[in-house]
Amino acid sequence: METKTRQPKLEVEQLPPREGENIIIERWEYMKDFKSFFPMLKEMLAAIYGSAQRGLKIYSERYDAINYYKHYRATPNSYLLIAKNKRGEPIGFLYARRKKNHTYLYDIYVKPAYRRQGVARKLIQTLEKWAGGPIRADTHDGALEAFKKMGFKVLKEYLEDGIKWYLIEKE
Ligand SMILES: CC(C)(COP(=O)(O)OP(=O)(O)OC[C@H]1O[C@@H](n2cnc3c(N)ncnc32)[C@H](O)[C@@H]1OP(=O)(O)O)[C@@H](O)C(=O)NCCC(=O)NCCS
Repeated sequence: METKTRQPKLEVEQLPPREGENIIIERWEYMKDFKSFFPMLKEMLAAIYGSAQRGLKIYSERYDAINYYKHYRATPNSYLLIAKNKRGEPIGFLYARRKKNHTYLYDIYVKPAYRRQGVARKLIQTLEKWAGGPIRADTHDGALEAFKKMGFKVLKEYLEDGIKWYLIEKE
């Protein structure tokens, strides 16, 4: 018997040009380009855990996340949003899942050359539009100020893996 899984339709959001660049946000229904994606994931982990190697170890051993991303297939509740520049190259991403009462943001990253141009803000606004709020995440000192400027409030602070984490929420 043929089983059909409901695939979310491909959605694309246009970012108003800022700093002379057109950025689009896409929702991927599967891992289309692991070669471009993996360096971004590694750099995000380096920013959080101090070294990419340490972050990759935690992400693989504890969450099997590298494997998950490599073989990613969207479900109606999962959101892998990719920001692309005008040449169609991925320059940032977020991954989130819609839960019962909130959307949980697991990962977010923007390439250094594209930071402070509103890309993360647009990724999060797009997530809010497509998955619904409130949005929750756990973040670290390196990204807390940016999240606060985007309207997130700290609900809790805790230590794990020698890192100070903040549970944050945007209503
Ligand atoms: C955190 C991160 C995703 C922000 O991306 P970004 O595209 O530069 O963010 P935006 O340009 O959309 O900025 C949103 C707001 O945060 C502010 N902001 C961004 N980075 C900031 C920083 N390092 N310190 C203080 N404020 C910052 C921006 O000025 C903007 O506020 P404004 O509109 O009031 O000026 C990016 O710095 C990053 O990828 N960091 C490394 C990975 C990481 O730590 N991810 C979080 C894992 S939990």
